[in-house]
Amino acid sequence: MTASYPVTRPRRLRRTPALRSLVAQVAIRPAGLVLPLFVKEGIAEPQPVSSMPGVVQHTRDSLRKAAHEAVEAGVGGLILFGVPAVKDGRGSAADDPGGIVQVAIRDLAADVGDDTVLMADLCLDEYTDHGHCGLLTPAGEVDNDATLARYASIAVAQAEAGVHVVAPSGMMDGQVGAIRGALDAAGHGDVAICAYSAKYASACYGPFREAAECAPQFGDRASYQQDPAAARDGLREALLDVDEGADIVMIKPALPYLDVIAQVSAAAPVPVAAYQVSGEYSMVEAAAANGWLDRDRIIMETLTAISRAGADIILTYWATEVARRLR
Ligand code: PBG
Repeated sequence: MTASYPVTRPRRLRRTPALRSLVAQVAIRPAGLVLPLFVKEGIAEPQPVSSMPGVVQHTRDSLRKAAHEAVEAGVGGLILFGVPAVKDGRGSAADDPGGIVQVAIRDLAADVGDDTVLMADLCLDEYTDHGHCGLLTPAGEVDNDATLARYASIAVAQAEAGVHVVAPSGMMDGQVGAIRGALDAAGHGDVAICAYSAKYASACYGPFREAAECAPQFGDRASYQQDPAAARDGLREALLDVDEGADIVMIKPALPYLDVIAQVSAAAPVPVAAYQVSGEYSMVEAAAANGWLDRDRIIMETLTAISRAGADIILTYWATEVARRLR
């Protein structure tokens, strides 16, 4: 006699919280979370970022406090973005040993040192008066190869200040190879590179550009960041970066690009990071502030999805909060 009920019952494993957690295959690891932090030169008090409620531009002191709290909560790493007081055409503050990011790296290296992984974003847009990620030709185009020399010099400055990892985010061709060569030549063979490999020209960076004061003053970044519709480009960029010596490859933004995270994670022989960017953060905060979404649940659901797609490491502005919640 055939059974009058379905024989295969997936719901058996969903019946109690204990059953569900026994068979869960994805877990958010606090040690795999990285907290992005903004530090601004010449301010006396932390400045709120209006489009990112809960995020501030730090002073040197408030940065140290935020770093301590993150490490205390079990967050795995910190990534620093500097906002200099003075900008110019070549982004001189970016590789100045006395520049804000170098100073902040030294502070944190002395405070938290090897208790965390100190990373620095490596780019020019926060430091140039035109807001582009590279040097410009007289015609106003971003000059790929001239920019590589600047990135190499920034990498060495950040390494001398004491970072464990540099994270080039400018999307110039050949940037990982140029930086690896410069670090090795300067005796920093042990400093790792987390490459922003697949970085799409996304509307999700809007709030960040307020936080880092780096909106392009003309044009956009579409000639160097990837086209959201170029489906195969993400894997290609990640594999090129692995060839050039990337130790970690990153996909950015995260939630709208889960397919790319999955492709890269299936193919890359190195750890894969995903950056849950400012716009992803602000969309959730805005909806939650309106009472339209359950904030705590949606934060965990987005991180679970990013992790399920294959990210080993997640950069998120919620890192400290989530690490505390998981303790
Ligand atoms: C460029 C950089 C950007 C972000 C990280 N590094 C901005 C951009 O490409 O315009 C965005 C991060 C975020 O939106 O949270 N240095």
